[in-house]
Amino acid sequence: MPKKMVTILGALTVLWILFAASQAFKLDISPQDKTIAHIGDYLSLTCNTTGCESPSFSWRTQIDSPLHGKPRTEGSKSVLIMDAVSFDNEHSYLCTATCGSEKRERGIQVDVYSFPKDPEVQLSGHLEVGKPVMVKCLVPDVYPSDRLEVELFKGDHLLTTQMFLEAMEKKSLVTKSLEVTFTPSTEDIGKDLVCRARLYTDSETKERETVKKLQVYTSPRNTVISVYPSRRLQEGDTVRMTCSSEGLPAPEIFWSKKLDNGNQQPLSGNATLTLVAMRMEDSGIYVCEGVNLIGREKAEAELIVQEKPFTVDISPGPWVSAKIGDLVILKCVVDGCDSPTFSWRTQTDSSPNGEVRSEGAQSVLIIQYASFEDEHTYLVAVTCAGRKLEKRIHVEVYSFPKDPEIEMSGPLVHGRPVTVNCTVPDVYPFNHLEIELLKGETTLMNKRFGEEMSMKSLETKSLETTFIPTTEDTGKDLVCWAKLHSGELESEPKQRQSTQTLYVNAAPREITISVSPSPVVEEGSPVNLTCSSDGFPAPKILWSRQLNNGEMQPLSEDTVLTLMSAKMEDSGIYVCEGMSQLGTSKKSVELTIQVSPKDIQLTAFPSESVKEGDTVIISCTCGNVPETWIILKKKAKTGDMVLKSIDGAYTILKAQLQDAGVYECESKTEVGSQLRSLTLDVKGRENNKDYFSPELLALYCASSLIIPAIGMIIYFARKANMKGSYSLVEAQKSKV
Ligand SMILES: *[C@@H]1O[C@H](CO)[C@@H](O)[C@H](O)[C@H]1NC(C)=O
Ligand SMILES: *[C@@H]1O[C@H](CO)[C@@H](O)[C@H](O)[C@H]1NC(C)=O
Ligand SMILES: *[C@@H]1O[C@H](CO)[C@@H](O)[C@H](O)[C@H]1NC(C)=O
Ligand SMILES: *[C@@H]1O[C@H](CO)[C@@H](O)[C@H](O)[C@H]1NC(C)=O
Repeated sequence: MPKKMVTILGALTVLWILFAASQAFKLDISPQDKTIAHIGDYLSLTCNTTGCESPSFSWRTQIDSPLHGKPRTEGSKSVLIMDAVSFDNEHSYLCTATCGSEKRERGIQVDVYSFPKDPEVQLSGHLEVGKPVMVKCLVPDVYPSDRLEVELFKGDHLLTTQMFLEAMEKKSLVTKSLEVTFTPSTEDIGKDLVCRARLYTDSETKERETVKKLQVYTSPRNTVISVYPSRRLQEGDTVRMTCSSEGLPAPEIFWSKKLDNGNQQPLSGNATLTLVAMRMEDSGIYVCEGVNLIGREKAEAELIVQEKPFTVDISPGPWVSAKIGDLVILKCVVDGCDSPTFSWRTQTDSSPNGEVRSEGAQSVLIIQYASFEDEHTYLVAVTCAGRKLEKRIHVEVYSFPKDPEIEMSGPLVHGRPVTVNCTVPDVYPFNHLEIELLKGETTLMNKRFGEEMSMKSLETKSLETTFIPTTEDTGKDLVCWAKLHSGELESEPKQRQSTQTLYVNAAPREITISVSPSPVVEEGSPVNLTCSSDGFPAPKILWSRQLNNGEMQPLSEDTVLTLMSAKMEDSGIYVCEGMSQLGTSKKSVELTIQVSPKDIQLTAFPSESVKEGDTVIISCTCGNVPETWIILKKKAKTGDMVLKSIDGAYTILKAQLQDAGVYECESKTEVGSQLRSLTLDVKGRENNKDYFSPELLALYCASSLIIPAIGMIIYFARKANMKGSYSLVEAQKSKV
């Protein structure tokens, strides 16, 4: 520290001491004048002095009662400690300090109060809509109670308020309360109930409040029970019952069952009550109770558990149709009974022929070979725990072993009545038999054999009808349809049927012959003769040729008779015959083969050179064609003279000179002609004549000069004709 600073500090100390010494003796108290303290709290009053080295203190109350506090003096200060504050501390305290001869005094008023807890809100009961309730607000351990104000609010609404002004008899802690009654409504749900207490003291106002949420309740109501599947049950069933109840708070559900003695047997606290495997003893009234804080409500449901009936099933069914000789098993099965007893009998109260086997819940009646005697109504009685059920099975036997047989009185012939007989053999029961005969879609006859049966036996039944078949029936089916109906109307009848396709025979009637290309043809052409015939079955065809002697020569059984290359001899009458068992029909056609003449022979007999007066026969014959026109002519410059010939022969009895010349024969048919000529030489006297030499012609022909040759041929030929020599030209012409 610097020397100068030390000096300054020392000076200040001296100054302070001087000042203190000059101060007057003074006393202070705190808190000043007045204080308020809560009962039970800690309170201290402090007295301090200034201006005195070592003062002495004393504490007292104004009325000189005990201090109820502990004074503690330390130097210039004295503290009075009150721990804890009580009613006894409510005084005016005086603090006295003495310094030498000087004396100072200070007073302080100490007030006490008590307001230790928040108000307590009490309700007379649960808040239930519509039901008045009393609310009480308690303010405990208050002092001074005449300074207390209490207010009760419901939400913002002031229910009541009170100032507790009554004078107190003595100092004590009291509990003050404020009550009000109101009726809650549903609007009150969620509102606050507020109790506010104020304690007014001289210096300040103490406030405490309690807030309570309004809990509004409703008593259980609309309590209902729903039952699934039903209130009526059978043994072994399961039932589920659900109970619902409305209320605030949500009611709890309690299930119970009413006992016979009037008590209730608690069952469950679950809204859903499930009862399984119900027994008849479980029948009764079930009670559901909805319970909450403020109430309870009941609902009841009556359950009826019925005895489960046992059932009896029969198989194959109530109506059994069994073929004679078949194995028949009638079965009876019981459900819902552990050990039933069975009894089989027939409706006529005889024991069945078959064997009965019963085991557990089923029983069978076995009929090995069904026969007429087994045709009965069987009754099976089942007894189970005193209960009895009876079922019936009707067994009918039948026989219907074969398809119907169709028989016809003869072959079907167009237009000829025929009798059809349809037979159904070994039928039982025939009075359920129906036979129907159909031709195509048309019913010819139908019969139900409904007659009474005098005894049980197999019978053969037949149905007969007559009809006239026509060729249109061919291809249609003749059906015999047998139906064996059952005694049980709903069931389908047993059916058998036989079918025959109809073929209706018809005698051949119309024979038609066609000749291709034509009935008149040239030799060498092909010819087809076609024969067709109607009739069913298709008639057999026979082609034959009528011979000159009237006999018939069979040729072919084919419908077409073919001549590859017709010859003249093929001309003639051809007959086609259609034949079947039912008859014969025939037709003929004439075939003409035309031939052009060939091989004409023109001869002069005895010679072509005769003497005057000789007899000459000029004869013309045609080799190939017997019937032809033969024209014999004598050529002359004035014109040809046709000679009267007999069978191609012309006789000159006494040859004259003028008979010499060219004779010509023409053979002619529809398809051609041929010419021949000869020259007759009649010698009587000497004659000079041109003579045509065939050798000369040959020479010409041999030459290449054909055209001039032909010219020459024509020339010579003309000349030759005159002289009756061979003519090549004419021969060629005849072929044209
Ligand atoms: C004593 O009293 C005076 C006034 O009276 C005050 O200023 C001072 O702080 C007090 N001293 C103590 C130690 O309390
Ligand atoms: C009530 O029953 C339901 C359904 O049967 C089940 O899930 C639930 O646990 C049960 N509650 C009680 C309390 O038994
Ligand atoms: C039909 O045929 C059956 C069996 O061949 C025969 O018994 C019956 O007499 C025939 N009916 C007539 C009417 O011919
Ligand atoms: C004759 O019939 C045969 C076979 O049917 C045929 O090939 C031929 O052309 C027919 N001939 C004539 C001339 O119709």
